[in-house]
Amino acid sequence: MKTLITGGTVVSATGRGAADVLVDGETIAAVLQPGSTLLGFDLAANVDRVVDATGKYVIPGGIDAHTHMELPFGGTSASDTFETGTRAAAWGGTTSIIDFAVQRTGERVMDGLAAWHEKAAGRCAVDYGFHQIIGGVDDDALKAMEGLVREGVSSYKLFMAYPGVFYSDDAQILRAMQKAADLGLLTMMHAENGPAIDVLAAQLVEAGKTDPYYHGVARAWQLEEEATHRAIMLADVARAPLYVVHVSAKQAVAQLAAARDNGKNVFGETCPQYLYLSLEEQLGAVGFEGAKWVCSTPLRSRAEGHQRHMWQALRTNDIQMVSTDHCPFCMKGQKELGIGDFRAIPNGIGSVEHRMDLMYQGVVTGQITLERWVELTSTTPARMFGLYGRKGVIAPGADADVVVYDPAGHTSIGLDATHHMNMDHSAWEGFEVDGHVDVVMSRGDVLVDADGYHGRPGHGRYLERGLSQYLA
Ligand code: URP
Ligand code: ZN
Ligand code: ZN
Repeated sequence: MKTLITGGTVVSATGRGAADVLVDGETIAAVLQPGSTLLGFDLAANVDRVVDATGKYVIPGGIDAHTHMELPFGGTSASDTFETGTRAAAWGGTTSIIDFAVQRTGERVMDGLAAWHEKAAGRCAVDYGFHQIIGGVDDDALKAMEGLVREGVSSYKLFMAYPGVFYSDDAQILRAMQKAADLGLLTMMHAENGPAIDVLAAQLVEAGKTDPYYHGVARAWQLEEEATHRAIMLADVARAPLYVVHVSAKQAVAQLAAARDNGKNVFGETCPQYLYLSLEEQLGAVGFEGAKWVCSTPLRSRAEGHQRHMWQALRTNDIQMVSTDHCPFCMKGQKELGIGDFRAIPNGIGSVEHRMDLMYQGVVTGQITLERWVELTSTTPARMFGLYGRKGVIAPGADADVVVYDPAGHTSIGLDATHHMNMDHSAWEGFEVDGHVDVVMSRGDVLVDADGYHGRPGHGRYLERGLSQYLA
């Protein structure tokens, strides 16, 4: 099957220009001057399908490097399965996800990875890879880390938060980082001081402050800043590169920026919720409504300027990537577990479908350039997590993961008709975006176009990832 995408503006992390894209089978065969012929043949007349991208942007498919499909967490499980979550991803122009396989204390790392393969295999609409959560660092887990790269898992996540669940103490973190440095694994860190948060949270509940808002109060920015600093210094001692996930506090950004200025190999990711939503407006919504936005790290105060600062950090490259941390829970039967005690609200927000649109809105409002949009959502994720060349770029030989994006289109985000995630609400209800995902192609197959959804469970393949391009 040959497809020609004609008339569009191809956008990469480094520039833009009018070009036609020829797709042959699963890969991009050529990026051509508009209207090019091949050996005198009119290309458009000799392909199986022509996609008219006139007036539109042609970009590499989005890569969401932080999702949690079906994650057992907070006494329940994230409500999107690999099937529903990757379908929603496809609708939104994301053609690859990297999810987190889980190992907990007393479990074997490779059993955790096998369990996540079992959940995902044959069910995904888009390509998928795994990071490995190491929730119980011990001698066995450290030994098992040696096998991860061979399995195509070149990054793993540790938690300074959630004592008794995924938490690692400093000694465990240092040992894991030393091992990772030896192996070329990238350490991803959930940087919040979990034990201190638990003390504050217990005191708040004791004082009768049980509403979702107090989730944000207990998870004070000082405890994100402190943990970020500690993670940076432990990584420095271990000579391990570090990637801090879901950064939300401007003080944590300052820690990352200072470390980078001092030559340390550290990187940061933020998420759309930390760019748009706030402690006051969403977590502070009346009654139990704020539970929709309970996630960790928490939404931060707009009065303190965290959101504005986060956009600036994206511009200055103090933060390098935007992922969603997609971890959806329904209000009914899930979030409502925490009525009367915010500590029991399952942590997570669903956004996998909306990341490309929400970040494009940053282009519309002049916060980031078109090229930076592509870099933050596709190219850097590919480079950071060992997928570049195959993913993250429109170039001959790359997988034909292509999105045609209409800057003149419009997207109203909200419930039912306008989202496809398995949730009974939307954290983004009422958001209006000046842009629209028109066509989504994954390895040459059109998953979404004006006629609707054409994807299927099982189209998505496991991505064996190479080493990060950002290892020093
Ligand atoms: O609230 C969140 N972030 N839920 C998912 C688990 C995590 O810490 O990433
Ligand atoms: Zn986390
Ligand atoms: Zn997460």
